[in-house]
Amino acid sequence: MKAPILQAINLTAEYTGGETEVRALGEVSFAVGREEFVCVVGPSGCGKSTLLRLLGGLLRPTTGRVLIEGWELTGPVSRIGFVFQRSNLMPWRSVERNILLPLEISGIAPEMAKKTVNGLIELVGLAGFERSLPRELSGGMAQRVALARALAHDPEVLLLDEPFAALDALTRERMESEVMRIAQSRKKTVVLVTHSIPEAILLADRVLVLTSRPGRLRMEMAVDLPRPRRTEMMYTKTFGAMAGRVRSAIEEAV
Ligand SMILES: Nc1ncnc2c1ncn2[C@@H]1O[C@H](COP(=O)(O)OP(=O)(O)O)[C@@H](O)[C@H]1O
Ligand SMILES: [Mg+2]
Repeated sequence: MKAPILQAINLTAEYTGGETEVRALGEVSFAVGREEFVCVVGPSGCGKSTLLRLLGGLLRPTTGRVLIEGWELTGPVSRIGFVFQRSNLMPWRSVERNILLPLEISGIAPEMAKKTVNGLIELVGLAGFERSLPRELSGGMAQRVALARALAHDPEVLLLDEPFAALDALTRERMESEVMRIAQSRKKTVVLVTHSIPEAILLADRVLVLTSRPGRLRMEMAVDLPRPRRTEMMYTKTFGAMAGRVRSAIEEAV
Protein backbone atom coordinates (compact mmCIF):
# COMPACT_ATOMS: atom_id res chain seq x y z
CA MET A 1 0.00 0.00 0.00
CA LYS A 2 1.16 3.54 -0.71
CA ALA A 3 1.33 5.87 2.31
CA PRO A 4 -2.11 6.06 3.92
CA ILE A 5 -4.11 9.17 3.15
CA LEU A 6 -7.05 8.23 5.35
CA GLN A 7 -6.98 6.40 8.67
CA ALA A 8 -9.81 5.16 10.85
CA ILE A 9 -8.56 4.59 14.37
CA ASN A 10 -10.72 2.72 16.89
CA LEU A 11 -13.84 4.33 15.48
CA THR A 12 -17.17 3.73 17.17
CA ALA A 13 -20.50 5.45 16.66
CA GLU A 14 -23.64 5.53 18.75
CA TYR A 15 -26.82 7.38 17.94
CA THR A 16 -28.37 8.86 21.04
CA GLY A 17 -31.22 11.24 21.59
CA GLY A 18 -34.02 9.03 20.32
CA GLU A 19 -36.00 6.58 22.42
CA THR A 20 -33.06 4.19 22.54
CA GLU A 21 -29.35 4.33 21.98
CA VAL A 22 -28.19 2.62 18.83
CA ARG A 23 -24.66 1.30 18.64
CA ALA A 24 -24.21 1.65 14.90
CA LEU A 25 -20.53 0.93 14.56
CA GLY A 26 -18.28 -1.24 16.73
CA GLU A 27 -14.60 -0.55 16.95
CA VAL A 28 -13.19 -0.21 13.46
CA SER A 29 -9.62 0.56 12.44
CA PHE A 30 -8.12 0.55 8.96
CA ALA A 31 -6.07 2.69 6.64
CA VAL A 32 -6.65 3.66 3.03
CA GLY A 33 -3.64 4.22 0.81
CA ARG A 34 -3.28 7.15 -1.57
CA GLU A 35 -5.04 6.31 -4.84
CA GLU A 36 -6.36 3.10 -3.40
CA PHE A 37 -9.92 1.99 -4.24
CA VAL A 38 -11.55 0.40 -1.20
CA CYS A 39 -15.03 -1.11 -1.22
CA VAL A 40 -16.97 -1.71 2.00
CA VAL A 41 -19.67 -4.39 2.08
CA GLY A 42 -21.75 -5.79 4.91
CA PRO A 43 -25.28 -6.69 5.95
CA SER A 44 -27.96 -4.04 5.74
CA GLY A 45 -27.98 -1.78 8.81
CA CYS A 46 -24.47 -2.77 9.90
CA GLY A 47 -23.17 0.79 9.94
CA LYS A 48 -21.71 1.26 6.44
CA SER A 49 -23.26 4.68 5.87
CA THR A 50 -22.33 5.65 9.41
CA LEU A 51 -18.73 4.68 8.74
CA LEU A 52 -18.64 6.69 5.52
CA ARG A 53 -20.12 9.76 7.20
CA LEU A 54 -17.45 9.50 9.89
CA LEU A 55 -14.76 9.29 7.21
CA GLY A 56 -16.21 12.40 5.55
CA GLY A 57 -16.37 14.40 8.75
CA LEU A 58 -20.17 14.62 8.40
CA LEU A 59 -20.60 12.83 11.71
CA ARG A 60 -18.40 12.88 14.80
CA PRO A 61 -17.31 9.51 16.17
CA THR A 62 -18.36 8.54 19.68
CA THR A 63 -14.82 7.34 20.26
CA GLY A 64 -11.79 7.13 18.01
CA ARG A 65 -10.43 9.37 15.32
CA VAL A 66 -10.28 9.84 11.57
CA LEU A 67 -7.00 11.14 10.18
CA ILE A 68 -6.42 12.62 6.76
CA GLU A 69 -2.70 12.57 6.08
CA GLY A 70 -2.12 12.41 9.80
CA TRP A 71 -4.42 15.36 10.65
CA GLU A 72 -7.50 14.73 12.71
CA LEU A 73 -10.72 15.38 10.89
CA THR A 74 -13.17 17.51 12.86
CA GLY A 75 -15.68 18.34 10.13
CA PRO A 76 -16.19 18.26 6.36
CA VAL A 77 -13.20 19.39 4.27
CA SER A 78 -12.89 20.15 0.56
CA ARG A 79 -10.22 17.46 0.21
CA ILE A 80 -12.99 14.90 0.62
CA GLY A 81 -15.94 14.65 -1.80
CA PHE A 82 -19.15 12.77 -1.00
CA VAL A 83 -21.80 11.10 -3.17
CA PHE A 84 -24.95 9.73 -1.53
CA GLN A 85 -27.29 7.01 -2.69
CA ARG A 86 -29.78 9.65 -3.75
CA SER A 87 -28.34 12.47 -5.79
CA ASN A 88 -29.78 15.25 -3.54
CA LEU A 89 -29.75 17.78 -6.36
CA MET A 90 -31.38 21.17 -5.99
CA PRO A 91 -34.55 20.72 -8.06
CA TRP A 92 -34.72 24.30 -9.28
CA ARG A 93 -31.09 24.47 -10.34
CA SER A 94 -29.90 23.29 -13.76
CA VAL A 95 -27.21 20.63 -14.12
CA GLU A 96 -24.45 23.23 -14.43
CA ARG A 97 -25.76 25.29 -11.52
CA ASN A 98 -25.94 22.22 -9.28
CA ILE A 99 -22.31 21.44 -10.03
CA LEU A 100 -21.44 25.10 -9.55
CA LEU A 101 -23.00 25.24 -6.08
CA PRO A 102 -20.02 24.14 -3.95
CA LEU A 103 -17.77 26.53 -5.87
CA GLU A 104 -20.22 29.39 -5.36
CA ILE A 105 -20.35 28.65 -1.65
CA SER A 106 -16.60 28.81 -1.33
CA GLY A 107 -16.45 32.03 -3.32
CA ILE A 108 -14.39 30.87 -6.30
CA ALA A 109 -14.18 33.55 -9.02
CA PRO A 110 -17.10 33.02 -11.47
CA GLU A 111 -14.85 32.77 -14.54
CA MET A 112 -12.74 30.06 -12.98
CA ALA A 113 -15.77 28.25 -11.53
CA LYS A 114 -17.42 28.19 -14.95
CA LYS A 115 -14.33 26.62 -16.48
CA THR A 116 -14.20 23.95 -13.78
CA VAL A 117 -17.89 23.15 -14.22
CA ASN A 118 -17.53 22.81 -17.99
CA GLY A 119 -14.63 20.42 -17.54
CA LEU A 120 -16.59 18.32 -15.06
CA ILE A 121 -19.66 18.16 -17.31
CA GLU A 122 -17.38 16.85 -20.04
CA LEU A 123 -15.73 14.39 -17.65
CA VAL A 124 -18.98 12.78 -16.50
CA GLY A 125 -20.45 12.70 -20.01
CA LEU A 126 -23.23 15.26 -19.62
CA ALA A 127 -22.30 17.65 -22.43
CA GLY A 128 -25.52 18.99 -23.96
CA PHE A 129 -27.45 18.74 -20.69
CA GLU A 130 -25.96 21.81 -18.97
CA ARG A 131 -29.30 23.61 -18.82
CA SER A 132 -31.46 20.59 -17.95
CA LEU A 133 -33.26 20.44 -14.63
CA PRO A 134 -32.94 17.42 -12.31
CA ARG A 135 -36.48 16.26 -13.07
CA GLU A 136 -35.55 16.00 -16.74
CA LEU A 137 -32.70 13.57 -16.00
CA SER A 138 -32.61 9.79 -15.71
CA GLY A 139 -31.35 8.26 -12.46
CA GLY A 140 -27.96 7.57 -14.00
CA MET A 141 -27.63 11.13 -15.24
CA ALA A 142 -28.60 12.55 -11.85
CA GLN A 143 -25.86 10.46 -10.22
CA ARG A 144 -23.40 11.77 -12.80
CA VAL A 145 -24.32 15.30 -11.72
CA ALA A 146 -23.84 14.31 -8.06
CA LEU A 147 -20.45 12.85 -8.95
CA ALA A 148 -19.43 16.00 -10.84
CA ARG A 149 -20.55 18.13 -7.89
CA ALA A 150 -18.47 15.98 -5.53
CA LEU A 151 -15.48 16.53 -7.83
CA ALA A 152 -15.91 20.32 -7.97
CA HIS A 153 -13.19 21.05 -5.42
CA ASP A 154 -10.95 18.42 -6.98
CA PRO A 155 -10.92 16.36 -3.75
CA GLU A 156 -8.20 13.80 -3.23
CA VAL A 157 -10.65 11.43 -1.59
CA LEU A 158 -14.07 10.41 -2.88
CA LEU A 159 -16.56 8.74 -0.54
CA LEU A 160 -19.41 7.03 -2.37
CA ASP A 161 -22.37 5.61 -0.45
CA GLU A 162 -24.18 3.05 -2.63
CA PRO A 163 -24.17 5.54 -5.48
CA PHE A 164 -25.58 3.11 -8.03
CA ALA A 165 -28.08 1.24 -5.87
CA ALA A 166 -31.13 2.84 -7.47
CA LEU A 167 -29.98 2.33 -11.05
CA ASP A 168 -30.95 -0.39 -13.51
CA ALA A 169 -28.32 -3.05 -14.23
CA LEU A 170 -26.97 -1.66 -17.51
CA THR A 171 -26.78 1.92 -16.28
CA ARG A 172 -25.08 0.63 -13.19
CA GLU A 173 -22.41 -1.17 -15.21
CA ARG A 174 -21.78 1.95 -17.23
CA MET A 175 -21.48 4.06 -14.08
CA GLU A 176 -19.10 1.55 -12.49
CA SER A 177 -16.81 1.84 -15.51
CA GLU A 178 -17.04 5.62 -15.40
CA VAL A 179 -16.09 5.79 -11.74
CA MET A 180 -13.13 3.48 -12.34
CA ARG A 181 -12.01 5.61 -15.28
CA ILE A 182 -12.33 8.85 -13.32
CA ALA A 183 -10.63 7.44 -10.22
CA GLN A 184 -7.71 6.27 -12.33
CA SER A 185 -7.34 9.28 -14.62
CA ARG A 186 -7.76 11.82 -11.81
CA LYS A 187 -5.72 9.80 -9.31
CA LYS A 188 -8.43 9.70 -6.67
CA THR A 189 -8.56 7.71 -3.48
CA VAL A 190 -11.99 6.11 -3.25
CA VAL A 191 -14.00 4.46 -0.50
CA LEU A 192 -17.22 3.04 -1.91
CA VAL A 193 -19.98 1.38 0.09
CA THR A 194 -22.08 -1.15 -1.76
CA HIS A 195 -24.26 -4.15 -1.06
CA SER A 196 -23.27 -5.72 -4.37
CA ILE A 197 -20.46 -8.26 -3.99
CA PRO A 198 -19.61 -8.33 -7.72
CA GLU A 199 -19.51 -4.53 -7.79
CA ALA A 200 -17.15 -4.46 -4.82
CA ILE A 201 -14.75 -6.93 -6.40
CA LEU A 202 -14.89 -5.37 -9.86
CA LEU A 203 -14.04 -1.91 -8.54
CA ALA A 204 -11.81 -2.47 -5.52
CA ASP A 205 -8.15 -2.91 -4.82
CA ARG A 206 -9.32 -4.11 -1.44
CA VAL A 207 -12.67 -5.20 -0.07
CA LEU A 208 -13.59 -4.72 3.59
CA VAL A 209 -16.43 -6.81 5.01
CA LEU A 210 -18.26 -5.55 8.10
CA THR A 211 -20.16 -7.68 10.61
CA SER A 212 -23.79 -6.96 11.43
CA ARG A 213 -24.51 -4.08 13.80
CA PRO A 214 -22.54 -2.78 15.52
CA GLY A 215 -20.29 -3.21 12.50
CA ARG A 216 -16.75 -4.40 12.97
CA LEU A 217 -14.19 -5.52 10.42
CA ARG A 218 -14.92 -9.11 9.57
CA MET A 219 -12.62 -9.67 6.65
CA GLU A 220 -10.27 -7.83 4.37
CA MET A 221 -9.46 -9.12 0.89
CA ALA A 222 -7.02 -7.74 -1.68
CA VAL A 223 -8.28 -7.89 -5.27
CA ASP A 224 -5.34 -8.21 -7.60
CA LEU A 225 -7.18 -8.27 -10.91
CA PRO A 226 -5.37 -6.19 -13.55
CA ARG A 227 -6.64 -2.75 -14.55
CA PRO A 228 -8.39 -1.49 -16.54
CA ARG A 229 -11.11 -3.88 -15.43
CA ARG A 230 -13.91 -4.99 -17.67
CA THR A 231 -17.35 -6.35 -16.72
CA GLU A 232 -16.50 -9.62 -18.48
CA MET A 233 -13.99 -10.33 -15.70
CA MET A 234 -16.99 -11.08 -13.50
CA TYR A 235 -17.47 -14.36 -15.34
CA THR A 236 -14.00 -15.76 -14.66
CA LYS A 237 -13.16 -18.46 -12.13
CA THR A 238 -10.87 -16.21 -10.09
CA PHE A 239 -13.63 -13.63 -9.77
CA GLY A 240 -16.15 -16.29 -8.74
CA ALA A 241 -13.80 -17.60 -6.06
CA MET A 242 -13.31 -14.12 -4.60
CA ALA A 243 -17.06 -13.48 -4.64
CA GLY A 244 -17.53 -16.76 -2.78
CA ARG A 245 -15.09 -15.69 -0.08
CA VAL A 246 -16.81 -12.37 0.44
CA ARG A 247 -20.23 -13.98 0.42
CA SER A 248 -19.34 -16.48 3.14
CA ALA A 249 -17.72 -13.74 5.24
CA ILE A 250 -20.98 -11.76 5.06
CA GLU A 251 -23.07 -14.81 5.89
CA GLU A 252 -20.91 -15.62 8.91
CA ALA A 253 -21.14 -11.97 9.89
CA VAL A 254 -24.93 -11.83 10.16
N1 LIG B 1 -29.59 9.27 12.51
C1 LIG B 1 -29.77 8.09 13.12
N2 LIG B 1 -30.39 8.00 14.33
C2 LIG B 1 -30.57 6.82 14.95
N3 LIG B 1 -30.16 5.64 14.43
C3 LIG B 1 -29.57 5.65 13.23
C4 LIG B 1 -29.33 6.86 12.50
N4 LIG B 1 -28.71 6.57 11.34
C5 LIG B 1 -28.56 5.22 11.35
N5 LIG B 1 -29.06 4.67 12.46
C6 LIG B 1 -29.05 3.26 12.83
O1 LIG B 1 -27.70 2.83 12.88
C7 LIG B 1 -27.55 1.55 12.30
C8 LIG B 1 -26.56 1.62 11.15
O2 LIG B 1 -27.10 2.42 10.12
P1 LIG B 1 -26.36 2.68 8.73
O3 LIG B 1 -25.01 3.22 9.00
O4 LIG B 1 -27.27 3.52 7.91
O5 LIG B 1 -26.24 1.20 8.14
P2 LIG B 1 -26.03 0.69 6.64
O6 LIG B 1 -25.60 1.83 5.81
O7 LIG B 1 -24.98 -0.38 6.75
O8 LIG B 1 -27.32 0.09 6.18
C9 LIG B 1 -28.94 1.10 11.87
O9 LIG B 1 -29.47 0.28 12.87
C10 LIG B 1 -29.71 2.40 11.76
O10 LIG B 1 -31.07 2.19 12.01
MG1 LIG C 1 -26.41 2.74 4.12
